Amino acid sequence: MHGTRNWVDGFGRIHDDLRISVTDRCNLRCTYCMPVEPTWFDRASILTYEEILRVVRVFCARGGRKVRLTGGEPLVRRDLATLIGLLSQQTALEDISLTTNGVLLAEAAPDLAAAGLRRLNVSLDTLSASRFQEMTRRDELARVLAGLAAAALCGFDSIKINTVLVRGKNDDEVEALVAWSRECNFEIRFIEYMPLENGATWDLSRVVAGAEVRRRIEALWPIEPVEGANPHAPAKRWRFVDTGTPLGFIDSVTQPFCGNCSRLRLTSDGKFRVCLYDDREAELREPMREGAGDDEIERRMERALAGKGRGGALEIFERQAALPLVRTMHQIGG
Ligand code: 5AD
Ligand code: SF4
Repeated sequence: MHGTRNWVDGFGRIHDDLRISVTDRCNLRCTYCMPVEPTWFDRASILTYEEILRVVRVFCARGGRKVRLTGGEPLVRRDLATLIGLLSQQTALEDISLTTNGVLLAEAAPDLAAAGLRRLNVSLDTLSASRFQEMTRRDELARVLAGLAAAALCGFDSIKINTVLVRGKNDDEVEALVAWSRECNFEIRFIEYMPLENGATWDLSRVVAGAEVRRRIEALWPIEPVEGANPHAPAKRWRFVDTGTPLGFIDSVTQPFCGNCSRLRLTSDGKFRVCLYDDREAELREPMREGAGDDEIERRMERALAGKGRGGALEIFERQAALPLVRTMHQIGG
């Protein structure tokens, strides 16, 4: 092991943040994320918690400091709190967070908090039950709202709302969502719609630029940028002048943040990815199952990182078109 070196790529970007997809399965079918009839990975190909932990240890040995659990929907994986507990014991990790759709949150939140989870991001794109059904192909808005209410009582340091805006779908709800988030005291973040569902519906004309969202919010509530925000965080942080409550904008299409990228990804079937938009991936599961040592795992990760390009999101905007992708969002983890 080279304990003192970092995960640095050919552009000098240091990667200390690993997004771990714990399952490709989901209890929703968001149209921007997956097809109506997704094909799921074979169960045997899903990494065990021990295997995930092993990759995390290799990651931490070279400067990994943060992990985020994603899916699919991470809460459909059995005993997720157990994994959180194991991760909490990794002293090198300074930050463990979870992105969930909230459907199973009411039940899971107390266990997650008890296992050491401090931060939670809940995806919510609409406050209308019928529209929720259109966007997710499931009728689960009430459970998501109940999940949020339950989580709010569990003492998390931070609960953020992730909202993806799709032009002509939910972009008329910006003001209503902001008013609601202010009432509930959740930090809302608007995410630009990214071409990650395999070219099914994405089109640049359906992307609502963060700049437009900011103008619309400013017309009702004064907001100001937060100084000194983390340059590696994809979200630009702002705050409401009156309450001081932060809000964020993830302008991933119109203002790609590839130049500051610090993220690596582990898919639920054990592939290591260096970019959301780069389908070249390093196989980690098979060598682990064939008895490879940590040095072999590390070497595979290092080689993949050395091949990382400038950044896929930059290309989308330059080409004004989606990149062809083999995997869709739920198979990568966002
Ligand atoms: N564009 C932007 N965000 C997306 N997400 C899923 N698919 C897309 C997409 N095509 C978001 C989800 C969730 C997070 C994991 O990624 O809404 O908040
Ligand atoms: Fe499930 Fe999240 Fe994809 Fe929606 S965006 S289908 S909640 S994995």
